[in-house]
Amino acid sequence: MTDIVDFSAFPRLTGDRVVLRELQPEDAADLFVWRSDPEVQKYNSEPMQEVRQASQLIEELRREYSAQKAVHWAVTLSGDDRAIGLFGLVSWERFHRRAEVGYDLRRDHWGRGIATEALDAMLRFGFTRMQLNRVEAQTIADNHGSVRLLQRLGFRREGLRRAYSLEEDGTYHDGAIYGLLRHDYRPSVDQA
Ligand SMILES: CC(C)(COP(=O)(O)OP(=O)(O)OC[C@H]1O[C@@H](n2cnc3c(N)ncnc32)[C@H](O)[C@@H]1OP(=O)(O)O)[C@@H](O)C(=O)NCCC(=O)NCCS
Repeated sequence: MTDIVDFSAFPRLTGDRVVLRELQPEDAADLFVWRSDPEVQKYNSEPMQEVRQASQLIEELRREYSAQKAVHWAVTLSGDDRAIGLFGLVSWERFHRRAEVGYDLRRDHWGRGIATEALDAMLRFGFTRMQLNRVEAQTIADNHGSVRLLQRLGFRREGLRRAYSLEEDGTYHDGAIYGLLRHDYRPSVDQA
């Protein structure tokens, strides 16, 4: 299948208030701010301890882009180049035209619709430029911020994996699978 995304030029995406740009090695200190925050990392991997880990992650994600396996963006606010979030389309299965989304945002930017805007920009890119037919998301079922975000963009819950993940509090949490098909996708109201 011919490739639809031109990997020679990194795809910069924009929303009303956000710019999704290429993740750079210089973003390590900013990425560390939220990846070391236990509240942000509550349903994810262990909080980072050192900036070096952020640098390693950035290197890894840039390699995945070069290998044309995934696209990760640094989320910034228009007019301010500092990274405040990491959003990505991963597990890209070209033949099946599907990919998975991942997202996290610095805590002091929660509750303002920034993630909604960023995810919407990424979905538009996925459904048009990458020609995806399906985008899926895996989230802990009681990660309410994440679930609300997915529902706001039209994702539907398709399944539940019971006791999927052992959390810091020593209890098992269910994992939920969400999916959004191209024909059900409506760009968020602001973008329509
Ligand atoms: C998941 C995550 C990115 C969601 O962030 P968020 O700030 O809740 O999402 P949004 O930026 O879209 O903001 C939505 C909230 O802003 C409010 N809001 C304000 N202005 C808004 C606007 N213009 N558009 C949409 N929502 C707006 C909404 O009412 C909503 O509030 P609510 O949560 O009380 O219902 C964030 O919780 C996070 O980083 N969590 C940690 C990482 C994580 O768990 N990632 C998922 C792993 S699977």
